[in-house]
Formats: sequence, C-alpha cells, structure tokens
Amino acid sequence: MTTRRYRIATIPGDGIGTEVIPAGQRAVEAVAARHGFAVAWDVYDWSCARYAETGRMMPEDGVDRVRGADAIYLGAVGAPGVPDHVSLWGLLIPLRRELDLYANVRPVKLIEGITSPLAGRGPEDIDFVVVRENVEGEYSEIGGRLHGGTEHEMVSQMSVFTRRCTDRIMDYAFELAKGRRGHVTSATKSNGIVHTMPFWDERFAAAAARHPGVETVQYHIDILTAYFVRNPDWFDVVVGSNLFGDILSDLGPAIAGSIGIAPSANLNPERAAASMFEPVHGSAPDIAGQGVANPIAAVWTAAMMLEHLGEDEAAAELMGAIEASLARPETRTRDLGGTADTDGSIRAVIEAIG
Ligand code: NAI
Ligand code: MG
Repeated sequence: MTTRRYRIATIPGDGIGTEVIPAGQRAVEAVAARHGFAVAWDVYDWSCARYAETGRMMPEDGVDRVRGADAIYLGAVGAPGVPDHVSLWGLLIPLRRELDLYANVRPVKLIEGITSPLAGRGPEDIDFVVVRENVEGEYSEIGGRLHGGTEHEMVSQMSVFTRRCTDRIMDYAFELAKGRRGHVTSATKSNGIVHTMPFWDERFAAAAARHPGVETVQYHIDILTAYFVRNPDWFDVVVGSNLFGDILSDLGPAIAGSIGIAPSANLNPERAAASMFEPVHGSAPDIAGQGVANPIAAVWTAAMMLEHLGEDEAAAELMGAIEASLARPETRTRDLGGTADTDGSIRAVIEAIG
C-alpha cells in the first residue's frame, strides 16, 4: 500500500500562532499514521517579526510559493508595533485574493462541555455553518474622496457583485447543505440597498431552482442577527456577502462559546490553488509566550483541512478527540474555565485518538 503524502505550507505567524500551530501539527501527526497518510510541513516564517527585520510580511513571490501546496495551515498574524493593516494587506488579503479563496467557511457548533453565552442552549440547538463570499462585494477598492478637508468633502465606495462570483458562492452553500440538513438561509438587505441586494436575492432564487430539494429562506441582515441569538436552532447553512458574512461569522462563533475553539477555512472549491485553513482567533499578544493558549481552534481547523484533503475518517477521529478532551474540565484551557495549559490540552486530544 502506498502512503498518501500531503505538502502543507505552514505559516505559524505571530504570538500564539507559533504555539497553537505546532500543537495542531502534533494532533495531525497522531492521526496520520493510523489512516495511512503522511504530511510534509513546509514551514514559513512569514509574520510581523519578519516584517520588522525585512520590511515585508512575506517574500515578493510568497503567494506563488504556496499556490501549489495541498493546503495552507496558518496561525495568526499581528503584533504590537506593527499596524494591523500591514499584516492584513501584506499577507492575508493577498493570499485570499490571489489564490481566489472565495468561500470563507466557519462552522458554528456548540460542543458538549462548552457553555454558550445564550442561556438554556445545548449542543442540539447550535450546529450551523456560515459561508461568506470572500473576494468581492462591499470590500472593494473602487471609490474615492473629493474635496478632502473642505465643507464640500465627499466620499463614495462602490460594492461590486458579479454574477459569476455570486452564483459560485451560492452553489457552494447549496452543495454544502445537501451533505447536512438541506437548508440554506440567505442574508440580504434588499429593502434598503436597492441595486446589489435585489440582485443577490435574484441569484439566490436562481440557485434554489438549480438545487431542488434544498429548503431556503432569506432574512434581512438586521433581523437575522437577532435570530442568531434568539433562534440558533433555525439554521443549517447561512450564506452572506463579504460584509454580512464577516459580521455573521464573528457572531456565530461567539454564540458557540469561545474564540479559542473556533475554526475557519478559506476555500478554492475548484482546487485551482491551495486552500487556506486558519483558526478564527488572532495572535493574542496578551497571552502570547505563556504556553496557555487554547490549541483546540487550531486542531479543529486542522480537521477541516484533513476533510478538504479527502481524509474524512482522520478528520472525524480528530473531532471525536476534541469533543472528548473538552468534556473534562482538567483538560480544558483557562479560557474555557479549565486548568490545562496548551501542552496539557493537546496531550489530552492525542490520548483520546484511537
Ligand atoms: P485575538 O483573537 O488575538 O484575541 C482576543 C482575545 O481572545 C484576547 O483576550 C486573547 O487572549 C483571547 N484569545 C484568542 N485566542 C485565544 C486562544 N486560542 N486561547 C485563549 N485565549 C484566546 O484578537 P485581537 O486581540 O483583536 O487581535 C490581536 C492581534 O491579532 C491583532 O494584531 C490582530 O490584527 C490580529 N488578528 C489576526 C487575525 C488573523 O491572522 N487571521 C485574526 C484576528 C486578529
Ligand atoms: Mg472579521
């Protein structure tokens, strides 16, 4: 039997990124051998630390170096002293846009042992996925400022919605729903935003027609945020534009408990380039270097990466191990009210494997 091999471009980044990514690698190594595959970790030091030394977050040909990897596994970037827009526009945005990672996918699942900030809600109530359009929409550079600093000052910023990109994110959401509970919610605002959002609704209806058998509903973004809090059990897959998806994909993990466990994927579903997997959290400078960061978000992120690679059984085993480790307070980290440090938490995950 030949062993399947994957090359993973690994970018720990800054702060706790350099603590949780090695922990995630340990968890992946623990399942790899059991499931007949091997991983080569190409580790890159792209980060604010590198920026401080060289003036660049990554080399000029950085994107091309990782484009052909089987996946990209990223911790977080950001460090005190380096403006956040430098780390964002010097690394994350170029990777997302140039690799066309158009589907930002964030599972929202309340795990046994975690307390939701929503009173009286248990694991059976919170299990959905937010799918965010990740490359166009409201986050466009088209626009400008006129008569700056005068009383006639004016600014405008144009949202861009193309049929190609709108349809493909919708199709991604519907396909995802078919493997789940078969329900898609669209985030809209076609009452107030009179061009782009009615277009978004039209394309949602067209997608629904292409995917018969999937139930659909749409809500305006304002009431939708209220429903996330009041009725999280209504949702299976939620699709939103870049801005609406951004907001919902922070609200979602917030109701599922802790940023220390929330995973995300930036996908190129056609696999024309490497997809990127990263925990939702940042570099957490306030706890960096102390060895106390929660590594579960990085492990759950790694499970999503294994699923993308087709290693579904290994991914499921990793998820089971996460759930087992979170069930006990002594193997939970401090942010979850436990007593474990990063090492203790990841050892509990590894012990629970198999
Ligand atoms: P953050 O997520 O780094 O931290 C927010 C709070 O959550 C902090 O109190 C932190 O200690 C805690 N926290 C986060 N992850 C944790 C974990 N795994 N275990 C235990 N506690 C955890 O967000 P913040 O403070 O807004 O940003 C810090 C830096 O990270 C900034 O430079 C920001 O730009 C960057 N950042 C980078 C991201 C990325 O690379 N994708 C995403 C978000 C922020
Ligand atoms: Mg955000």
